[in-house]
This record gives sequence, C-alpha cells and structure tokens, in this order.
Amino acid sequence: MKIAIILGTRPEIIKMSPLIRELEKKNLDYFILHTGQHYDYEMDKEFFEDLELPEPRYNLNVGKNEYRKQIGLMVRLISKILVKEKTDIAFVQGDTNSVLAGALAANKVRIKIGHHEAGLRSHDLTMMEETNRIITDHISNYLFAPTADAFKNLKEEGIKESRIFLTGNTIVDAVYENLELSKKKINILKKLNLEKNKYILATAHRAENVDIEKRLKGILDGLGLVSRYFKMPVIYPMHPRTANNIKKFGLKIPAEIRVTEPLGYLEFLQLEANSKLIITDSGGLQEEACILKIPCVTVRDNTERPETIAAGINILAGTDAQKILQSAKSMAESEKIWINPFGDGRAAEKIFKIADGLLKKERQWGNRLKSKYIKIRGSILKRLRR
Ligand code: UD1
Ligand code: UDP
Repeated sequence: MKIAIILGTRPEIIKMSPLIRELEKKNLDYFILHTGQHYDYEMDKEFFEDLELPEPRYNLNVGKNEYRKQIGLMVRLISKILVKEKTDIAFVQGDTNSVLAGALAANKVRIKIGHHEAGLRSHDLTMMEETNRIITDHISNYLFAPTADAFKNLKEEGIKESRIFLTGNTIVDAVYENLELSKKKINILKKLNLEKNKYILATAHRAENVDIEKRLKGILDGLGLVSRYFKMPVIYPMHPRTANNIKKFGLKIPAEIRVTEPLGYLEFLQLEANSKLIITDSGGLQEEACILKIPCVTVRDNTERPETIAAGINILAGTDAQKILQSAKSMAESEKIWINPFGDGRAAEKIFKIADGLLKKERQWGNRLKSKYIKIRGSILKRLRR
C-alpha cells in the first residue's frame, strides 16, 4: 500500500505527526507532500524539527500566492504527484485550503481519500474552513470522525455510515507524545521569566477576526482588560497574519500583552499546560485546553468543536472587550469537571488499522472480480473456438 500524507499548515503538521510516526513504526511505504501553504521557519520547519519528522519528499512552495491561485496550483501539482507515485490512498487532515486541494486532486485522479478530523461543522458558511470541510467530507472515501458529534453530523448529511469511523483526534496522541518530551528538553517558563498558573496564554489568527479591524481591536483591548483584572501578563505568540494586520490597521497593542514570535510545539505545549487560562480563536487550542485541563475562552461567535462548550471547559466570547473579560472571569473562577471528548491518545493507530483493513478488503474484491472475469473470458473464448 502506497500512502500519501498531504499537509500544508502548522496544525496539519502537528496532527499528522502521530500518523507519520505510526507509518514509520510499521515501516510502510509512504511519502509526505507539503503544499508550502505555511512557509516561515516558525510556522513550518520548526515543527518538523521539534517532532522529529522526516523531510517532505515534495514541497510545492505555493504559500506566497493569493489563495485562489494557491488552491489551483496545489490541485494541479498534487494530482500529478499522486499519479506519478502510484498512490493507493491520500490522507488529509482538517479544513485548510491545503486539505481542500489535496482532496480535490486525489478525487480528480481517482485515488482514495482518507479524511482525519471529518464531520466538524460550525454551520457558518462564510468561513472558508467550513466549505473546505464540507467539500472534503463529501468526496472522501474514508471519514475519520474525532467525536460522536462529528460522526452524527456526517450521518445527518447523508454520508453512508459504512464510510465513517469514530477514532478520536490525533491531537490527543500528539499532546501525550510531546508533553513529556518537552519537559525533558526545555524550560519555557524560565526562558520567558514566568511562573506556573500566573500568566494567561493568548492566540488569535482566524481571518474572520484578524482581517476585520474592529474585531481585532476588540480582542487586543479584551486581553488588556483581562491582564489588568487578573494582574497577570498575557503571553501572545503571534501568527504572521495577525502581526501584518496590526501593522496595516495601525492598532496599538496594550502594554500588558507580551507578544512573541510563533513558538515551536514543545515550547508552546509547555506554555499551555502551565497557564492560568487560554484565550484563543484556534481550533487546536480549544482541543488542547480540554486535554491539558486549562479553562478556555474562545473569541469567536461559533465553534466547530461544540463538545468543548458542552463539557463546560470552553466558552464563546465573541470579540467585544467587556464580554471577553466577563467570560475570562467566569471560566477562571468556576469549578470544573474535566472531560476530554477527543479520545484516548490512540487515534493514529486506529486510523491505520481501519484504512489498512479496508484497502485489503477492496484489493481482495478486485482480485476476485479479476479472476471471475478471466474465467468468463476463458469460457467465452473456448466456445468461440469450438
Ligand atoms: C490557515 C487556515 C486556518 C488555520 C491556519 C493555521 C485556510 C483557509 N486557513 O490560516 O484554518 O487555522 O492556517 O495556522 O487554509 N503567512 C506568513 N508566513 C507563513 C504563513 C502565513 O507570513 O508561514 C501570512 C501570509 O501573509 C499569508 C497569511 O499569513 O498571506 C495567511 O496565511 P494562510 O495560510 O493563507 O492562512 P492562515 O491565516 O495561516
Ligand atoms: N501552536 C504552536 N505554536 C504557537 C501557536 C500554536 O505550536 O505559537 C500549536 C498549538 O499547540 C496547536 C496548533 O499549533 O496544536 C494550532 O494551530 P493554529 O492555531 O495555527 O491553527 P488552528 O488549530 O486554529 O487551525
């Protein structure tokens, strides 16, 4: 079985890493295809180093193009590579433009698609990620749903149950695998002069927030209010999209916010695990907050991870500064029962077992059909010769 791992952005590298480790362990025939959507060292290569991943066999380097051109180039180049490599199955993960392009490319050249993190829905079609998810799910052959909610969404959209598998999310595998490693290798609190439980960690980078001046200003002001109320610094490793937009809009960052470059996974995970509170619009951070048992405030109007809200670990605050402060108070000061809805840390193992079994079954079917065809062809030829 020849497997393609298609990825392009920071969260895909992190969430694919347990699958890649599984393939290495089993010594399977695979290759990594990087679209180059993320390309700065801190958004890309640092994760390959931190997670000790092999270099991608291909990097399309299309990240600096405008996104429509990016998607077009990705589809064309990925489909060529998949054919050239005689790929049996292409794996994609999540909802980025790289995921959409990877799935479309495989679909056009009739190569099987496995989608990890299938079935998430924000029900907000103005988000590019939501359309990416829906299209990818509907053209995938095997859908790996991380939670029961995601499984249900897919069933309700009419996708055949025999194609959907409840596996958990590989983010749990990644957190378990790397937190211990991080403790052995680094000490980010010392490096940034911080104390456990005495700082707040923030990230925001989603287009629907940081591309809109009013919303970005609301988030920055809200972080300032939270910092003053708790008398704690806010540490903000900043995505380049956000940094660019702060400059473009001429916004002032409140003095209490300590902005850093985006951090590597080992440093970031340690920073999350020791924080008092997480304030974010990131999908991955909402999940990691549940896994690490850190209360979370999500600065969005909706989430495709409603399990985190139902579990009482996360709250939606939008981007109004006062609402962010109120939400932070209610999350940091209330008692919680911790539930991690994203699985037991063995999602990668489950995904490969399922994919391997299904492909073997299909091959057997194919062989049976082939031998039947040969038999029928033989008897027809015999009759014709008589
Ligand atoms: C993308 C995903 C988003 C995901 C995020 C993970 C889509 C539609 N969005 O958003 O769902 O949460 O990745 O971080 O796919 N940039 C750099 N250097 C980089 C990467 C980006 O400078 O290494 C800047 C560029 O100006 C670029 C902008 O950030 O134009 C946006 O990057 P892009 O990859 O289009 O989207 P993200 O905001 O990263
Ligand atoms: N992350 C990181 N360094 C940072 C910010 C985030 O390693 O400076 C990790 C974080 O732990 C999570 C993932 O990146 O696993 C989330 O990526 P991001 O927020 O960019 O994307 P999203 O999850 O929203 O798609």
